[in-house]
Amino acid sequence: MNKNLRKVVIAGNWKMNKTATETKALLAEMKEKLPQTDATILLCVPAINIGTAMESVKGTAINIGAQNCHWAKNGAFTAEISADMLNDFGVKYAIIGHSERRQYFGETDETVNKRAKACLESGISPIICVGENLDEREKDITKDVIRVQIEKGLADFTAEDMKNSIIAYEPVWAIGTGKTATAQQAEEVCAYIRELLAGLFGNETAQAVTIQYGGSMNAKNAAELLAMENIDGGLIGGASLKAEDFATIVSCAN
Ligand code: PGA
Repeated sequence: MNKNLRKVVIAGNWKMNKTATETKALLAEMKEKLPQTDATILLCVPAINIGTAMESVKGTAINIGAQNCHWAKNGAFTAEISADMLNDFGVKYAIIGHSERRQYFGETDETVNKRAKACLESGISPIICVGENLDEREKDITKDVIRVQIEKGLADFTAEDMKNSIIAYEPVWAIGTGKTATAQQAEEVCAYIRELLAGLFGNETAQAVTIQYGGSMNAKNAAELLAMENIDGGLIGGASLKAEDFATIVSCAN
């Protein structure tokens, strides 16, 4: 029942942005500007820059995460990266099933499930992304879409797996468009996700899971979104590439 029992996670998704040199520079700025917080701060950078980023944030409260992870332990999967490889860098979080992966790279609920399980096996918390597109919202089938993504994406999860995972609700129509879901729209779906989790894993587990909102979250709208009962953090794209804006969002989590 209590929002305060859940871990607040403010995560940046840098997507395919920043070279290693630029990564160092932006992280140096972040280190200066980010406020003290009880929230978990996470920046998911391109895989090639994870080592550089880890080095840059050593001794700070900033966590570095990944944006994807393959499901196999190892093998003939050219260009892919395994959970063990991420783990070896000290990565504790990986975004799984982002809508851009679903849209452009053939990600399905089944592959999301496999990737998330591989993360969990290696001690990495998957941030599992779900969300409807504009057509689905306009047809008023948002909840049906979310239910299928949750049920298939979390297939065969134990309650323990669930507690070690994060769900990010990201309406596709709000990503990178400047169109944010209103705090009420976001809360409605996040509350529905928690209801689904309660049905699948029991209420105690559902109450413990961090559910983030993502989609044009920025320095101006973060406070209102993060104040909602069932929104326990953010997955932030564009605004996580600006130290000043990301710092303001983090301060809203306090
Ligand atoms: P945005 O991206 O904040 O730029 O809309 C969010 C995301 O894709 O995770």
